[in-house]
Amino acid sequence: TGHVTLDPGYVNTGSCTSAITYIDGDAGILRYRGYPIGELAEKSNFLEVSYLLIYGSLPTQTQYEEFAGRVTRHTLLDEDLKNFFDGFPRDAHPMPVLSSAVSALSTFYQDSLDPFDPAQVEISTVRLLAKLPTIAAYAFKKTVGQPFLYPDNSLGYIENFLQMTFGLPAEPYEVDPIVAEALDLLFVLHADHEQNCSTSTVRLVGSSQANLFASISAGILALFGPLHGGANAAVLDMLEGIKADGGDVDHFVQRVKNKEKGVRLMGFGHRVYKNYDPRAAIIKKTADNILERLGQSDELLELAMKLEDVALHDDYFVERKLYPNVDFYTGLIYRAMGFPTKMFTVLFAIGRLPGWIAQWREMNNDPATKIGRPRQVYIGEPERPFVPIAQR
Ligand code: CMC
Repeated sequence: TGHVTLDPGYVNTGSCTSAITYIDGDAGILRYRGYPIGELAEKSNFLEVSYLLIYGSLPTQTQYEEFAGRVTRHTLLDEDLKNFFDGFPRDAHPMPVLSSAVSALSTFYQDSLDPFDPAQVEISTVRLLAKLPTIAAYAFKKTVGQPFLYPDNSLGYIENFLQMTFGLPAEPYEVDPIVAEALDLLFVLHADHEQNCSTSTVRLVGSSQANLFASISAGILALFGPLHGGANAAVLDMLEGIKADGGDVDHFVQRVKNKEKGVRLMGFGHRVYKNYDPRAAIIKKTADNILERLGQSDELLELAMKLEDVALHDDYFVERKLYPNVDFYTGLIYRAMGFPTKMFTVLFAIGRLPGWIAQWREMNNDPATKIGRPRQVYIGEPERPFVPIAQR
């Protein structure tokens, strides 16, 4: 058309202004609302960071308690929504189940779907933050054939999720504080990452004035893919594969460099970071720590460290500025905590939820927002006459 500039994959196309997350990919810097990720990881917690992302500033003690109290009050799922899980096969992947259940929330809460009514947006925000861990735990319980547990609102956000996931009605479940602390940290590290694939999806769907539940449901499915959130599970599959092949890291790296179809070093590379992903650096330390503190020596962790070391010194990866990303070590931690591989991306989704919500709200409050509607360059047939079927 002469007016359209193509940018497949939006490598260099900005679609909005945002005051939420700052990334300097060359320097390996990530900040939420101005606060460096390393400081938040060390000093804050997931609910506080959620408040920060959504409302723009750190809460006072009173604001924090009020917010945490509201989120806690909404953890239950409607009993009819509980039945919804019975409609899926036992071996259903929990990501589409998660997305479907979130989409179904808009049928249960028809009183709060107006994207321009601040009170309705607020209650939807709280409901989502409160219910996603419950939904995730039920999606997991379904796959192992165990009964769903009700939330225990005397517990903290993370502890409650762990209780619903790993608890059994017949046995008291003690949440391991080491596990809870590490999971909280991982959620903080995942909480936002500006205009990535799933967040852009949430914004694009929301730009049509679709409600918050519908927009987040779409974001969850965007996160599912192995090049995005699904990479954390793909890394573990890759490590298992290398182990099954006798642990030959060099051989695997050679296959990656030969660009064998479908063979990538999963958990490496990033569209924006051309330096060590600052989240990966924190997670690597955590992986080391938690495996040691849980008393697990992990052959796969050793393989991962060897793989990283080989890649960081290999010209192929150096020239392309490929470094470990957030997903390289997370799977090993989740596995040590007892989560099956299928749940890894679900954990990413719980962590990313406050970011999606914050971005959706920012978009709706921005007077510059228009419906997202990319253009194309048509390369098909020119006009031609219709030929009746008998003459083709
Ligand atoms: N292994 C081997 N080669 C790679 C990798 C990798 N992981 N990542 C990029 N490359 C190569 C790629 O083949 C290309 O080489 P060449 O120029 O010779 O064709 C070059 O590096 C540039 O790659 P690209 O695919 O154009 O880069 P992109 O910005 O489109 O893709 C990415 C970014 C994250 C999708 C990609 O690096 C990748 O597929 N990584 C593995 C999957 C992964 O770990 N995803 C998680 C991303 S981080 C957080 C998240 O979203 O979950």
